[in-house]
Amino acid sequence: MVTTRLGYPHLGLGVGLRSVHYAHILQQQPDVDWFEIISENYMDSQGRPRYVLDQIAERYPIVMHGVSLSIGSSDPLNRDYLRKLKLLASSVNAGWVSDHLCWTGVAGRNTHDLLPVPLTDQTLRHVVERIRIVQDVLERPFVLENPSSYVTFACSEMPEWEFITRMAEEANCGLLLDVNNVYVSSVNHDFDPVEYVENVPHERIVQCHLAGHTNCGTHLVDTHDGHVIDPVWDLYRRAHRLTGGMSTLLEWDASIPAFPVVHAEVLKAKRHISDECEPPGGSDDAVSDGASPQTTSPQDASSSRLGPESAVPHPAVLVCAEAE
Ligand SMILES: [Fe+2]
Repeated sequence: MVTTRLGYPHLGLGVGLRSVHYAHILQQQPDVDWFEIISENYMDSQGRPRYVLDQIAERYPIVMHGVSLSIGSSDPLNRDYLRKLKLLASSVNAGWVSDHLCWTGVAGRNTHDLLPVPLTDQTLRHVVERIRIVQDVLERPFVLENPSSYVTFACSEMPEWEFITRMAEEANCGLLLDVNNVYVSSVNHDFDPVEYVENVPHERIVQCHLAGHTNCGTHLVDTHDGHVIDPVWDLYRRAHRLTGGMSTLLEWDASIPAFPVVHAEVLKAKRHISDECEPPGGSDDAVSDGASPQTTSPQDASSSRLGPESAVPHPAVLVCAEAE
């Protein structure tokens, strides 16, 4: 069991902050351990979203999660974006800043999608160099998430877990392990998700993502829709044991239900956390003070959700036009 997490705090069980829940959170002040925000929803706003965020940040720990860094692109890093990211992180005292191992555009064009990178030594050197620059600019812990993907490159030279391991160690950054992404990609690309989870550097995993996805029959799509399915909970339990505990966050971005439903979903993690992987010196209190674990619904025990209407998720769905 590893418990270092690079010295980052164990925040417990958190929920992705979404604007549909602003009123509930402000009025009810739910007993949530922490919130993760989509950075781009607040970077350029001084209106109501920032007003709400500032109030929430006074009461809850905040972590920032971005979708626009494009760490894998061959375009120059966007210094203006990084400057705004740093300002926002300072403003909300973000525990850390994360983004995805991906590229979102090239030659000045933005695809508004999180695209996979070729898993080669050349890409690795490129990404590591850019992570170091980002860390130097942000002067705040930086964490990268394993992506979900639907295509691979014929030129790839190593499995994704090996790329991520070498990347994190050479760039000395943290990792956000999205176990739903591991599962989605493992089905889409026919690899063993357990081998993936067992071989990433557990001491560098400071955060975990949980989410639902959609089963399109021939492939899975990372829609962040619905409940977390049992095979993903199995991966979570394994990852939690191997890491010794990590801050855990539930993402729900399609057909978003009422806040108590979303909160209850992440609290289910409690039942998957055994005594051996509680935070150092911790108890249930250190994991979450929230409500008791919820009973499993039939939907949880089912396999991936069927959804013919689904398409490959578009990062823009995560970035809300906050006009309210
Ligand atoms: Fe994620």
